[in-house]
Amino acid sequence: MTDEELCAMAVKAMDNAYVPYSGYKVGAALLTRSGKIFTGCNIENAAYSPSVCAERTALFKAVSEGERDFVKIAVAGGKNGKIASEFPPCGVCRQVIAEFCSPEFEILVVKAENEYGVYTLKQLLPNAFTPENIE
Ligand code: THU
Repeated sequence: MTDEELCAMAVKAMDNAYVPYSGYKVGAALLTRSGKIFTGCNIENAAYSPSVCAERTALFKAVSEGERDFVKIAVAGGKNGKIASEFPPCGVCRQVIAEFCSPEFEILVVKAENEYGVYTLKQLLPNAFTPENIE
């Protein structure tokens, strides 16, 4: 699985986004150490706060299937499904990633067709609060 293929899966996952309120379709593709891919999309809700981001959908799908060892995630998003620029993970998703992934975990953020930025978790969430901070 190349980074480009993972990004393409994130772009494809945008198709299933349920976004009647914002119109922003977001997709994520999470690669596990065992070589599986879990995709996710954002799913909004009329009450707004129950909405969930694409990244967390992918992570929670994976964890609920017994996977906790992750290599990298790709994320893509844009208004009405058109990618105009990077759509980086929100703070809550960064925190959920930090629960399971090392500071070196890679986050690929799609910015255009065949173009993406590569960030580490520690770049996007420096000095993270992690399970190591509590007993
Ligand atoms: N969204 C994501 O799916 N991932 C992020 O990390 C940022 C935001 C979603 C939430 C909402 O459905 C839409 O994008 C607009 O904020």
